[in-house]
Amino acid sequence: MNHYVQPDEFAGRTAVVTGGGSGIGRAVARRWAAGGGHVTVVGRRADPLRETVALIEAAGGSADAVTCDVRDAAAVDTAVDGVAERHGRLDVLVNNAAGNFVLPGEELSPNGWKAVIDIVLNGTFHCTRAAARHMLPQGSGAVLNVIASYAWHGHPGTVHSAAAKAGVLAMTRTLAVEWAPRGVRLNCIAPGPTETEGASAALWPTDTARERVLASVPAARFTTPEEVAESAAFLIGDRAAYVTGDVLVVDGGQWLGKSVYATEPSGA
Ligand code: HXC
Repeated sequence: MNHYVQPDEFAGRTAVVTGGGSGIGRAVARRWAAGGGHVTVVGRRADPLRETVALIEAAGGSADAVTCDVRDAAAVDTAVDGVAERHGRLDVLVNNAAGNFVLPGEELSPNGWKAVIDIVLNGTFHCTRAAARHMLPQGSGAVLNVIASYAWHGHPGTVHSAAAKAGVLAMTRTLAVEWAPRGVRLNCIAPGPTETEGASAALWPTDTARERVLASVPAARFTTPEEVAESAAFLIGDRAAYVTGDVLVVDGGQWLGKSVYATEPSGA
């Protein structure tokens, strides 16, 4: 039982969540539907999307799925136009689809660089542009982009992802100012280490790596997709109506806790 859910918070509204077949995307989709909104989950593989829809419907929510690769601008337009036509409006877009693997920069092939930039940076633009064509005439809408704190502090092994997510952050801030007069808000969320299959496999594939990541989090734990979704629900809902162009960091203090000085509490 989630005590934060108000069953009518998002009633009558429609959201699109990319990468909605797993992890944070699935949790955000479920959270939106629990608040009474309709959600369309978008992703490359039909089966995981169908599972998300089934989970939402089993809980009494409203959802459907569209398979689409966010790298394909024309396919994105078709998918997003279809959602707006079926529901008469589009209120929220969550750009969650991502691709990632950790690799030293000098070992990254041009094609590896391109794959991640295409999914994260170009895909986010394609979806945002497609959504804006409905939100701007409507005079309302909220876009939430899932990034990571290495968008601003960088991190070894993530040059492709960090560059892409830095671009998404710049895109968010730029469009937030352009579109604020027309009622469309854009924000980012920067989750820290989140227990999902995708992140675990890509970012802490071994027990040693997992321990190292855990040791870097002042809150001394991983987060869950559901916990991240709660912060997402705030940013895409009316409680954040005056918040635009900002980043909400949900990382247990990870990026701020990077000091290497001896910082034992006095008396310890
Ligand atoms: C080195 C790799 C690689 C790896 C792919 N490549 N995986 N190089 N190590 N582990 C290279 C390939 O060799 C190829 O280059 C190029 O990348 C494209 O690979 P493809 O497999 O053909 O591409 P594609 O099928 O489009 O797959 C895209 C992908 C893939 C990004 C590579 O991993 C993907 O789609 N992932 C989606 C799910 C995911 O990654 N989730 C994790 C998100 S977690 P060459 O030169 O050989 O042709 C996340 C959290 C971040 O983002 C924040 C945490 C705090």
